[in-house]
Parts: sequence; structure tokens; C-alpha cells
Amino acid sequence: MADPAASAQRRLSLHGQWSSRLAFVLAVSGSAVGLGNIWKFPYVAGQNGGGAFVLVYLLCVFAIGLPIMMAEILLGRRGRRNPVTTMGLLGREEGGSRQWRLVGLMGMLCGFLILSFYSVIAGWTLHYTVLAASDSFAGLAADGLGELFSGLVSNPVTLILWHTVFLIITTVVVARGVEEGLERAVRVMVPALILIMLALLAYSISFGGFQAGLEFLFRPDFSALTGAGVLAAMGQAFFSLSVGMGAVMAYGAYLPQEESIIKTSVAVVSADTAIALLAGMVIFPIVFANGLDPAEGPGLVFQTLPLALAKMPAGILVGTAFFILLAFAGLTSAISLMEPVVAWLVEAFSMRRSVAAMLAGGVTWALGLMTVFSFNLLADWQFLRGTLFDNIDYLTSNILLPAGGFLITIFAGWIMCANSSADELDATVGPAYRLWRFLARYVAPVAVLLVFLNAVGALG
Ligand code: PHE
Repeated sequence: MADPAASAQRRLSLHGQWSSRLAFVLAVSGSAVGLGNIWKFPYVAGQNGGGAFVLVYLLCVFAIGLPIMMAEILLGRRGRRNPVTTMGLLGREEGGSRQWRLVGLMGMLCGFLILSFYSVIAGWTLHYTVLAASDSFAGLAADGLGELFSGLVSNPVTLILWHTVFLIITTVVVARGVEEGLERAVRVMVPALILIMLALLAYSISFGGFQAGLEFLFRPDFSALTGAGVLAAMGQAFFSLSVGMGAVMAYGAYLPQEESIIKTSVAVVSADTAIALLAGMVIFPIVFANGLDPAEGPGLVFQTLPLALAKMPAGILVGTAFFILLAFAGLTSAISLMEPVVAWLVEAFSMRRSVAAMLAGGVTWALGLMTVFSFNLLADWQFLRGTLFDNIDYLTSNILLPAGGFLITIFAGWIMCANSSADELDATVGPAYRLWRFLARYVAPVAVLLVFLNAVGALG
């Protein structure tokens, strides 16, 4: 058998490399930080009773998500191809099977499904940008904002319009390749988003619900936590970190050999988590001060933040900037959802990048109609977890991403020989490497299995 280390060393990515370590950190942060932090985390935490959910979420992020992110980057960099080819290539090289590429294929499917609803929700933020800019929140109380939101989602035409706009932008950027312009944009966007959220936090505190909000978010009430809630917390950790479907693996393929995977992952995971918690700290005080329901659902952010925006000086400006930045954060995540499949079509089928992007965009657009109609025409069609959207969301976040992550850590921890993973993870950080290997071999896969079993009630 060929020495795996030697063959990996010679391999180069077909799409070039990130211009610097910072560029890679920015790209992965751009993927991780998105609607998942600001739109999804607060509403899922709200639906699952707050504190205890948040605690489980944090455990999942650091004990499961972080080692899986490292595994994805190291596999991506070693394979230097799209996730499907990389998994097949490494499978053979490490003495396993080429069929590991099925993990990559499952990730592609999952990416399509996530992007299909992600784009619809990103469309909401575009619509809210226009509302903020035209001062439409002025004078509205909580119930008025509720009507504004239901007015939007009950109209399929508007939803399709914004879904289309967002997907066209995503497709164009992906077609052109993940370029420096994007790196630079992320560098401005993430700090700007944090600044605005800090400003919003100040106003959110002034509503008077700050203590209730913080207690809800940080005081664990384990009686409010169910097996389904634990699974939701794990699913949210995967979703927010972008791990389990190959997005981070695809980006890892463009990472220069000398960069530290461990440091990068820790930085990205910490930033992503901090932003999610910050979003919760802004939103829940508004919820409690205004007598709203924390379990409101997907509309939560859109029905709370405008209350603070309407109150602050220069609210029109701040609000417009906020929703633009949020849409932008969504864009950098959407790009990472589309990149693996486009890289695969280009590498495995010699398709032109622009054609591959259009194909992926078209399929995603059609799939997105399921989400669009879940909020209006098909709102009454409820089965399993709820609407069609609820089911797609559940299937991707709570099942496919954890299953993909499980297989990725099994591969990186058990199939791949220790020399190969140590080589990628930089041998100078000995204890960190051993900790990673322990988490990847035992903690992460066992935890995913236990959470699954617990959710289906098999643990009693
Ligand atoms: N992490 C992104 C967010 O929080 C969503 C995402 C999930 C992106 C999976 C890529 C892969 O918005």
C-alpha cells in the first residue's frame, strides 16, 4: 500500500487556496455565523424551555461540534477535493472502503435541503430590510409586529420573490468562485454585526425584562427539558457550526498545509457561540418585557427586534443596517452550503463552475417552494413534526447533520491511521491532539448515539 502521508502531501486543490490563514478563518466563520445564530438559536431555545437547553447546547458545541469541525477540516485538507471525492479517496488510502464517499453524498443531499429553506428565511431578512428602511416599525406594538410578520409569511408571492432574489445572489457568488471580495466582506460584516447587537442589547436592557430574559436563558430548569429537547440542542449545535454535511470539509480543501487546524476551529467555534448567546440576550428581555411567548417559533426575531429598533435613536438606520448584515451573514452561510455540491459537479463531471452553480441554484429554488407553502397554502398540512418546513428542518438538523458528523468522526478517529491525523493536526500541540483524538473516537460518536437513542425513548 502506498504511504498515505506521502500521497496526501503531493495533492493540491483544483480550485486554488485561501490567500491567508485569516482568509480561511473568515470563510469558516462566515459559514458558521448566520441565520442559525440570530434567527434559529433564540427560537429553538425558546421552544425548549431556555436554560437547560442552552447548557446542553454548549456541551454539544464543545464536546461534539468542535472535534467534528477539526475532523472535517483535516479530512478536507488531506483529500483536497470535494467532500464526496475526498471521502472516497481517503477511504481507500487509509485502508477502508471507497464507499465512505456515501457520507459525502448524504452531505450533498442535506446541503440542498438546508439551503432550500435557508434561502426562504434569508428572504424574510431582505423583506425586513425594506421595512426597516421605510420606517414601517414606527408606532407598532407587539401585536402590530405580529400582524406584520404573519402578513409576510401568508403571502406566497412575496416569499417566492425574495427567495428567488437571495438564491440568485448566492448562485452568482458561488459561480464566480469564493473570492477575495468575499473574504474582505466577512471581515467587516462579523464585527459590524456584533457591534449592532451590542447596541441593541443596551436598548433591550432598557425595556426592563433583562433579568427575566437572562434567567430564562441561563438558569437551567431540567424539568423543562425533554429527550426531544436534548436532540434539538444537539441538532442546533451542528447547524450553527455548519458541521456534519461537508461545508467545512469543502473549505478545508483550500487550506494551506502549514496552518493550524486546532487554533482555527477553536476561534470559529467560540465566536459562533458568543454570537448566538448575544442574540439570545438581546431577544429574551424584549420577549418578557412585552409579554410575548418565548415559544413563538420561527417568527420570534422578526417580532421582537423591531420593538427595540423602534425605540432607539437612529432606529431606521440601525435597523436597516442590522437586517442587511443579517442577510449578508446568511449569504456567507448559503455560499458554504452550495460550495460542496458545486465543487463535486466541477471535479467529478468536469462541469463548468457557472453551469454547476446554476444547476444547484435551480434545484434548490424548486425545493424551497416546500418551505414557502408551509407558511401559507400548506400551513394546515401537518404530519410527524408539524408542517413540511418543520419536517425538513427536523430531518436535516436533528438527523442528517448528526449522522454525517457521527460517520465523519468514526472515519477520522477509527479508520484513519493516527499518523495521518497527527500529521494534519500539527504534532507540536501534543496534548491538544490527544484530547481531540479522545473526543473524536469516544466522546462525540457515543454522545450522538446516546442522544438519538434517548430521543426515540430507547433509554427509558
Ligand atoms: N451555520 C449556518 C448558520 O448558522 C448554517 C449552515 C448549516 C451552513 C450547515 C452550512 C452548513 O446559519
